[in-house]
Amino acid sequence: MAAPTYADRMAPLVDGPWSDVARAVGLLRPDGEVRPTVFAEMSALAARTGALNLGQGFPDVDGPAHVAEAAVAAIRAGDNQYPPGSGTVALREAVAAHQDRTYGLRPDPDSEVLVTTGATEALAAAVLALVRPGDEVVTLEPYYDSYAAVIAMAGARHVTIGLVADEAGAGFRLDVAAAARAFTDRTRVLLVNSPHNPTGTVLTRAELEVLAGLARVHDVVVVTDEVYEHLTYDGVEHVPMATLPGMAGRTLTISSSGKTLSFTGWKIGWVTGPAELVTAVRTVKQFLTYVSGAPFQPAIASALADADGRTGEYVAGLRGSLAARRDLLCEGLVRAGFDVVVPQGTYFVVADAGALVGEVEGDRAVGRGGGIVPGGGTARGGGERGGVAGGRPGDVPGGVPGGRPGDVPGGDGRGGPGGSIDGVELCRRLPGLVGVVAVPVGAFCAEGSAVAQAMRSRVRFTFVKREEVLVEAVSRLVGLRAALRAG
Ligand SMILES: Cc1ncc(COP(=O)(O)O)c(C=O)c1O
Repeated sequence: MAAPTYADRMAPLVDGPWSDVARAVGLLRPDGEVRPTVFAEMSALAARTGALNLGQGFPDVDGPAHVAEAAVAAIRAGDNQYPPGSGTVALREAVAAHQDRTYGLRPDPDSEVLVTTGATEALAAAVLALVRPGDEVVTLEPYYDSYAAVIAMAGARHVTIGLVADEAGAGFRLDVAAAARAFTDRTRVLLVNSPHNPTGTVLTRAELEVLAGLARVHDVVVVTDEVYEHLTYDGVEHVPMATLPGMAGRTLTISSSGKTLSFTGWKIGWVTGPAELVTAVRTVKQFLTYVSGAPFQPAIASALADADGRTGEYVAGLRGSLAARRDLLCEGLVRAGFDVVVPQGTYFVVADAGALVGEVEGDRAVGRGGGIVPGGGTARGGGERGGVAGGRPGDVPGGVPGGRPGDVPGGDGRGGPGGSIDGVELCRRLPGLVGVVAVPVGAFCAEGSAVAQAMRSRVRFTFVKREEVLVEAVSRLVGLRAALRAG
């Protein structure tokens, strides 16, 4: 008998639930190999090719200097040892005052506010605290990738409600019928992200009320991810779920300083809600990281308290400049041939390459007498939102993500009716074609889901980059049609 190989010997040693997590986020290949996330893949591609990275959502300039100076001062003043497990008093008070000032919510700083290591830890601790194996957690789809991972860590079932591309041009909206179907007697938590990454949708009060009603009927805890709470445009209002009638008592509200203050690497987040729920989250959080970033807490506390109004000014300026950068990128994407849903919030825009790719492939099929894509003409003729295979994304939601959102449908990046290039394939080729990096929206969907299928030709670009970077990106992207034709 042949001696066991190294892989044979390692297999029982590495066996564990991590593989369920890897599978849930699409990182486990059938051969057992663990692949990098699509974000890592695209960022590596950007680094290797020198392409402009509009894939990953972090600002390319720092947040306000006075907040950075406050952190430096805190380090110099000796705020370098473990802070209190719940967060410093000053930060908890500042978070409570912010919730009161902004939304009329009044969490008690001692029992109803917990400081976490970014929103990511708050989300993980909340799910791990409240969800048992076999329970169901409902989220929107597309969804931020850490949701699928932490739901898998809890051994729970991930059920999704699709956001549907509205025919009348209102963007991606909640599929109300699918929302009703998503809830069962096993539903334990509804996790809602608004403003929503990746679509830029800001759920309306009416949409939130639908979800709130379902949460009340099925008696579930609502966990909200509001990290983009201050980044909404054109006067669109962000409504926290906890402000809706009857919801404060069952809602954990999560946010963080990363997006609002452009310090995404500081990882200071927080969760507010009823004392009993916050105690549950704290119990888990204290054994995940114990405490969070000592010198950053006083800096964020004074920024949030905003005694001199400088934070308010900064955030208003950021919002204004992001709205202008959004318009710049959206107009450029339209010129390049994408169908764009103009986002109401966040710093992402979802662009549909279906019609563009279909047009190029259709031309080729005609011009070269046959060729590449029999279905290309369909996409081309498919109207403004053409090229998206199948119908409305919301048709089948309420589905259970089966596997690998990460590397998305198609495996080889092709697939789907007509064989036209999908978002994954396009994102892999974009750096070579025009020197720009984006990420496929399929990376935010469950593999094989109806939403993934509906989103297959859509890609996400960020506009949280300097204006000159966006101008250059647009000038490159307008050459995409020609590059695709040549390629
Ligand atoms: C929707 C959403 N939630 C949470 C996070 C992570 O927030 P933090 O960096 O505070 O952990 C992100 C970051 O991109 C996000 O887009």
